[in-house]
Amino acid sequence: MLARAVSHALVGLEARRVEVEVHVSGQVPGFTIVGLVDRACQEAKERVRSGIASAERQWPGGRITVSLAPAGLRKEGSGFDLPIALAILAASHQVSAERLAEHAALGELALDGRVRPVDGALAVAEGARRSGLSHLLCAAESAAEVRLAGIEAVPVEHLADAVAYLRGERSPPPFEGDGRPALAEQDFPDLAEVRGQERGRRALELAAAGNHNLLLAGPPGTGKTMLARRLPGILPPLGDREILESTRIHSVAGLLSHERPLVTAPPFRAPHHSSSAAALVGGGPGPRPGEVTLAHRGVLLLDELPEFARPVLEALRQPLEDGFVSVARVGGRAVFPARFQLVGTMNLCPCGGRGDGAAECTCSPQRYAAFRDKLSRALLDRFDLVVVVPRSRAHELAAAPGEGSEDVRRRVLEARGRLGEHRPERTREADELLDRAVERIPLSGRGRVRVARVARTAAALAGSRDVLPVHVAEALAYRSPRELSAR
Ligand SMILES: Nc1ncnc2c1ncn2[C@@H]1O[C@H](COP(=O)(O)OP(=O)(O)OP(=O)(O)O)[C@@H](O)[C@H]1O
Ligand SMILES: [Mg+2]
Repeated sequence: MLARAVSHALVGLEARRVEVEVHVSGQVPGFTIVGLVDRACQEAKERVRSGIASAERQWPGGRITVSLAPAGLRKEGSGFDLPIALAILAASHQVSAERLAEHAALGELALDGRVRPVDGALAVAEGARRSGLSHLLCAAESAAEVRLAGIEAVPVEHLADAVAYLRGERSPPPFEGDGRPALAEQDFPDLAEVRGQERGRRALELAAAGNHNLLLAGPPGTGKTMLARRLPGILPPLGDREILESTRIHSVAGLLSHERPLVTAPPFRAPHHSSSAAALVGGGPGPRPGEVTLAHRGVLLLDELPEFARPVLEALRQPLEDGFVSVARVGGRAVFPARFQLVGTMNLCPCGGRGDGAAECTCSPQRYAAFRDKLSRALLDRFDLVVVVPRSRAHELAAAPGEGSEDVRRRVLEARGRLGEHRPERTREADELLDRAVERIPLSGRGRVRVARVARTAAALAGSRDVLPVHVAEALAYRSPRELSAR
C-alpha cells in the first residue's frame, strides 16, 4: 500500500517541492521517516501517531515507512506533520489517495490533533502554485498568506476536518477576505510630536522622498531617535508586489501573527546594538533572513550606531550596495533581498558633550579616536544625508506642534511621482557646482552619485523641472558636516 502527499521545504525564502511517500507493509509494527530530515521533523512520528488517534482514525498495522523526497534536500521543521498523517491515512485507505494528490498540505499537529500554523506558509503556497496545485490544506491562521499567493486555502482546525474534507463528507468554511488591515490601523508615531528641529525634519522628508540613507548625529536627548522612528510613517504604502515580498520574508521568519497576518506597511526594524553580524545580515543553519532582509522595502534603524561592533557594521556595506545578501550553507546558497533604507543615530563623542553649546566634551583624545574608528569612512560614505541635530532652544520645545506626518507624507508621495515620471535633470550651472565640490570637499565617486541623487530629490520635492544649483547646494550641505569631520 503506497500513498503520496505533496508538501514543500524552504530553502531561504524559496519553497522546493517535497513528495511525502508512505509505504505500509507486512505485519510487524514499525515507523520510520527517511529523507534528510531534522530533529523536529523526526519528532513528527509522535505527533502524527497521537494526532491520528485524536482524529479517531485507525493506526495501520504493519511497518510504516515515510520517505520525504528528494532525499538530498534538507527538510526542517514541523510543517510535514499534516502531509505525513494524511499520506498514512491514504495508504491505509481511510482517505482518498487521488484526492490527496490534488492538494498540497502544510501544518504542525498538536497531540490532540489540532492543526497549527508553521512559518513560511506564503512561500510554500507559491511553491504549490508553481507545481500546478490549486489547493493547500493548512491551519486557519495561514489562510490569509495562502490566499495572497493566489491559490485556494483549505483551512482546517483539526486533522479530523482535513480527513472529513478529503473523504468528501464536509467542507471547511471558505476563507473570507484578504486579511489586510486598513492603513489607518497601523500607527506609527506622528511627526507633530517633534518640536523644532527643522533641519532634521527636512532631512527626514528628503530621505523618505528619495529613499536615501540618513545619519542623525548630535548631543543626547535632542530628538534623534524620535525623528528616526517617524520615518516609516511618512513613507508611501507598499505596492502589491512589495506586500508579497515583505510578507514572504516575515512569514519565513515567523513574525506574522493573527493580528498582523500580512505586511502592508513599510517594515521598520530597530535591532539592538548588541546584535551579531549573523543577526543583521542573516545566516545560521536554516539559513534565516537577517534584519537587513526583514527591513526590505522599509527602514533599518541602527540607534546608537557607534555602539555596534565594527565587524557588524562592516557586514552592512555589501547589502547596502547590492540590495541583497547571499548566505552560504551546506549544499548551496540562499539569496535574501535587502533593499532597505538605513537610518543611524549617534552622539558626536562618547561623553555626549561635543556639539552641545551647554556642555563641554570631557573625552580624552584616545577615547574620542577609538569612538571615531568604529565608523569606517566607507560606512559613513554610504549615508547620503548626514544631519547634526542640535539641542533645541527652550522656545522651540514650547512651540505649538509641528506639521503632522500625514501632510509630509502627501508631499513625499507627490515627489516620488515626479521622480518616477520626468526625472529632473541638472542644469549646466548645477553640474559645474557639483564638479567644483568633487575637487574641494573632496567627494568620492560614490559621494558624487549620492549628492546628485539627493539634489534630484530636493528638486522633485520643490516641484522643479530641473535640478538647480540651490538643490545641489542643499545636497552638499548634508554630505560632510564640520562636527563629524573634526578630529
Ligand atoms: N525636538 C523635540 N521635540 C519634542 N520632544 C523632544 C525633542 N527632543 C527630545 N524630546 C524628548 O526627549 C526624549 C528623548 O529624545 P530622543 O530619544 O529622541 O533623544 P536622542 O536624541 O535620541 O538622545 P540620545 O542621544 O540620548 O539617544 C523624547 O522622548 C522626547 O520626549
Ligand atoms: Mg537616541
